[in-house]
Amino acid sequence: MAHTNGTAPPDSLFSPSLISPQVSSALPSGYTIRPLERSDFDHGFLDVLRVLTHVGQVTKDEFENRFDEMKAGAGGYHVLVILDGDAKIVGTGALIVERKFIHHLGLVGHIEDIAVAKDQQGKKLGLRIIQALDYVAENVGCYKTILDCSEANEGFYVKCGFKRAGLEMAHYY
Ligand code: ACO
Repeated sequence: MAHTNGTAPPDSLFSPSLISPQVSSALPSGYTIRPLERSDFDHGFLDVLRVLTHVGQVTKDEFENRFDEMKAGAGGYHVLVILDGDAKIVGTGALIVERKFIHHLGLVGHIEDIAVAKDQQGKKLGLRIIQALDYVAENVGCYKTILDCSEANEGFYVKCGFKRAGLEMAHYY
């Protein structure tokens, strides 16, 4: 466990030192990967999430308030983005670190909200997002990372090295 949390610049959700150099260098030419920034409302972040599910009409103020809440969350939230050559956000994914009492105060990573813009799918960006989140999880000291997905996406996560474990159950409010 490396525990290289680092220090995040004020407008960055988490420390850029947690971005995998291997993943950065494996991206298509001109593409970059970095932590979510407070200004990313203006770079197409919410549009990318719309390929995943209903997002709603979130205002810039609401986006910035949620960003600030996440940043205040003691190293729990790691939302990262991939940008194309025009600095437009084309992919995103999140790792939320859950602090436990069990497993000797273990940390579990939860992968959430993986989305790649429709016209950018099939370029391995989804894979790179998962690899980058795995790197964060390992380096902050998670002993495992888990996620929920639809049957339709199982094959993608198997290609990313995950295996089926357990069963999702939900209450909706
Ligand atoms: N089923 C089976 N295999 C798949 C699927 C799928 N649904 N999607 C991609 N793959 C395969 C690819 O063919 C590729 O295989 P290869 O290495 O043999 O060529 C490998 O998985 C990697 O694919 P990528 O190119 O990295 O995938 P992409 O960039 O298109 O991203 C993603 C995949 C994120 C699922 C994208 O299609 C997307 O944004 N979909 C809509 C939103 C969504 O469903 N997100 C996941 C929700 S679950 C969650 O967030 C925890």
